[in-house]
Amino acid sequence: TRVVLLFGGRSGEHAISCATAAGVLRAIDRDKYDVIPVGITPQGRWVLAADDAERWDIDARHMPEVPAGAGEVILSYAAGDQSLRVLEPGAVPAVLGDVDVVFPLLHGPFGEDGTLQGLLEMADVRYVGAGVLSSAVSMDKHFMKLVLAGQGLPIAPYTVIRPGEWERGPRAWTAAVEHLGLPVFVKPARAGSSLGITRVDDLADLAAAVTEARRHDPKVIVEQGVVGREIECAVLGAPTGGTPRASLPGEIVVEDDAHAFYDFEAKYLDEASVTLSCPADLPPELVAEIQAVAVRTFEAVACEGLARVDVFVTTDGQVVVNEINTMPGFTPFSMYPRMWAASGLEYPELIDELIQLALA
Ligand code: DAL
Ligand code: MG
Repeated sequence: TRVVLLFGGRSGEHAISCATAAGVLRAIDRDKYDVIPVGITPQGRWVLAADDAERWDIDARHMPEVPAGAGEVILSYAAGDQSLRVLEPGAVPAVLGDVDVVFPLLHGPFGEDGTLQGLLEMADVRYVGAGVLSSAVSMDKHFMKLVLAGQGLPIAPYTVIRPGEWERGPRAWTAAVEHLGLPVFVKPARAGSSLGITRVDDLADLAAAVTEARRHDPKVIVEQGVVGREIECAVLGAPTGGTPRASLPGEIVVEDDAHAFYDFEAKYLDEASVTLSCPADLPPELVAEIQAVAVRTFEAVACEGLARVDVFVTTDGQVVVNEINTMPGFTPFSMYPRMWAASGLEYPELIDELIQLALA
């Protein structure tokens, strides 16, 4: 079976995606799968990439990036003229035409948001993970909340600052979010890895936070801060008609006051600041409820393949959905694979299972 591992990409999570590729390159069963690593540069050019896990590892000193010059160009999305161009016609059938399945190890816009999935649908190539609609809805925190609330899932209060409302200025934004209380979390609607997110404890800081979020997305979402534990649950799809499976939950414990929340640095660069506790220490009834909510969330957005559902458990024991991630962090140290390992499914088997689901 020939598998394209697709990583890097145009989003702010480029380096995280490379780290995920490093993990998968090390663990994938080479007897079963012929691996074709394809990197997408930050500008959107597709290149054959090094089959060398170490090259793609991430740490505080090294943020990996797919170099424009690496190997042969296969496809290029020509930003600006809105067209997909074949730069080397001969290479396309030779490379992409022969693949059985694409495993998009991409996070964020142009990878996790339905755009890539649409391209693969157009090309009639099978791929791991969520489809076009599910990816798009899950990437946009505004539409995600509408879809979840519309199906009765518990979410926290929020306000959207749409692109057109930008001109109305900080006083109008403050008026729009005051009812949420403090703190609030100000987020770009479509981003990941906590990029562009600010915790606001004083409305005087709201304007700066909105400006920061707008660097990532013209649509900004302001969420009420939920007091409680941050719990995550991994969901694995089933072949059509089957019931998705939920893992044992894990917990994010931010140890260090240097981080006001589980921000980008705490996630990837400052290992001492955060503990991923897996499985989380929770009573069995609560585990069952979190798993049920996670599966309902997965089904509410019509997800396929995999997703990590992030929830809060409030001090009075309510489960509130924070978000769903259709391509969660996927290095062997990331929460999604760790939750499956704690549930009896090791990383190499998990990779195999996801590819087999896509081929089913
Ligand atoms: N967006 C990051 C990769 C996550 O959800 O884990
Ligand atoms: Mg996310």
